[in-house]
Amino acid sequence: MAEIVVTDRDGREHRVPGKAGLSLMETLRDLDYGVAAVCGGLCSCATCHVYVAEPWRSRLPAMQDDERERLGQLDGYRPETSRLSCQFRFDQKLEGIRVEIAPDE
Ligand code: FES
Repeated sequence: MAEIVVTDRDGREHRVPGKAGLSLMETLRDLDYGVAAVCGGLCSCATCHVYVAEPWRSRLPAMQDDERERLGQLDGYRPETSRLSCQFRFDQKLEGIRVEIAPDE
């Protein structure tokens, strides 16, 4: 089964099943240690912020202007790894993806 490796805000690692076709946010918001996703995926709250390392980072769809704008407003923004998890869907090419939940802001 395709899985996602999630590092929570306490640095603990968890392995959770990936759900193909859903945004990563939709999986992460169901976890006690996941994301708040206040806007429900409308790219307006940035509470689904995660850090995605390579090689998965380069497999994600290109970032659109609104996502870049939201991320740029965050103290925890890291240009090399920050993404909003509502802006891409989990699929087979992301199997084993490692994401770290960004700090609350
Ligand atoms: S859920 Fe609000 S920006 Fe992603």
